[in-house]
Amino acid sequence: MIAQRYNGRMLTSRRIAVLGAGNIGAALIGGILKGGVAEPGNLIATVRTAERAEELAARYSITVTAGSNREAAQASDLVILAVKPSTLPRVLEEIREALREDQILISLAAAVPIALIEKVIERRMPVFRAMPNIPVVVEEGATAVASNGVCTAAQRQIVENIFRAVGVVAFVEEDMMHAVTALSGSGPAYIYMVIEALIAGGVKMGLSREISTRLAEQTVLGAAKLVRETMLHPAILKDQVITPGGVTISAIHELEKHGLRSMLISAIETATHHSQALTRSLMGKFGKEG
Ligand SMILES: NC(=O)c1ccc[n+]([C@@H]2O[C@H](COP(=O)([O-])OP(=O)(O)OC[C@H]3O[C@@H](n4cnc5c(N)ncnc54)[C@H](OP(=O)(O)O)[C@@H]3O)[C@@H](O)[C@H]2O)c1
Repeated sequence: MIAQRYNGRMLTSRRIAVLGAGNIGAALIGGILKGGVAEPGNLIATVRTAERAEELAARYSITVTAGSNREAAQASDLVILAVKPSTLPRVLEEIREALREDQILISLAAAVPIALIEKVIERRMPVFRAMPNIPVVVEEGATAVASNGVCTAAQRQIVENIFRAVGVVAFVEEDMMHAVTALSGSGPAYIYMVIEALIAGGVKMGLSREISTRLAEQTVLGAAKLVRETMLHPAILKDQVITPGGVTISAIHELEKHGLRSMLISAIETATHHSQALTRSLMGKFGKEG
C-alpha cells in the first residue's frame, strides 16, 4: 500500500468496519460521519442482535449486520474492534482468515495487549490499540493510542483523524495504557461523583436540584475549558479564585483536610495496578507471558 493512499483526503474513500457497535462503537460511527472522515456508504458495522442492527442502520444510514464479522472485515480497509474484551478473542478468530497485511486493525478493548491480538490473528499487520472514553458520545472524548512496530506515520495519521472526530487524541507507548485507562478511561466516573457531590452540597444548602445540577455541570465544564484555553497550571487558576480570608479558601481548607488530591492520586494508582493485573491474567489465560 503506497503512503499516498493513507493521507487524510483519501481516508473518506476508505472502507471502515466497526465490529461491535455498542456505546463506544456507535459513538465513533457518529463522529466519523459527522466529521466527514468516511462516507456512509463506506462504513459497515456489526452487532450481536438483529434489533440493535436495525436501530443503528436506521440511525446512521449505514449497513449494519447481526454477526457476519468476517464479511465486514473482508470488505474493509480499516477494522475497528469495539466488542467487549471477553468477546474479542472469539471475534478475532472469526475474522483471522479475512485479514490482510494492507489493512489497519484498531482494538478498543481495555486491558487486551497488542501482543495478544497478534498471537490470535497469527500475522504481522498494522495493529493499533486505542483507549477512548465515554464522552466520545458527545464528541468530547479523550483517546490514547498505542501501535505495534509495523504501523507507519501515515497510518498513525489516519487513526488520529478518526479519534479526532470524537475529541482529543494522544499517542503513547503501550505500557502506558494502564495509566491511561486509570486516568481518562475510568476518569469520567470520578468526575460524575464530583458533580453528584457538588449537586448534593447545593441541595443541602437549599438550592433546588435543578439549579444545583445546572450550576455544578457548568462549573466543571467551564473550569476544564479554562485549563485548556489558558494552558495555565490548575494551581494558578485555583489561586485566581481565592481571596485572602474569603469563602473559597475556607472550602479548600476542608478539601485538603479530607485529602481530595491525595485520594484522586491514589485512585489512579490503584486503577493502574488493577489494569496491569487484568492484562497479566488475560495473558496467562491465553498462554503467553505479559
Ligand atoms: N465504555 C467505555 O467507557 C469504554 C472506554 C474505553 C474502552 N472501552 C472498550 O470499548 C469496547 C466496547 O465497550 P462498550 O462500552 O461500547 O460495550 P457495549 O456497549 O457492550 O458494546 C459491545 C457491542 O458488541 C456487540 N457484540 C457482542 N458480541 C458480538 C459479536 N460476536 N459480533 C459483533 N458484535 C458483537 C454488542 O451487540 P448488541 O448490542 O447487539 O448486544 C454491542 O453492541 C470494550 O472493549 C471496552 O473495553 C470502553
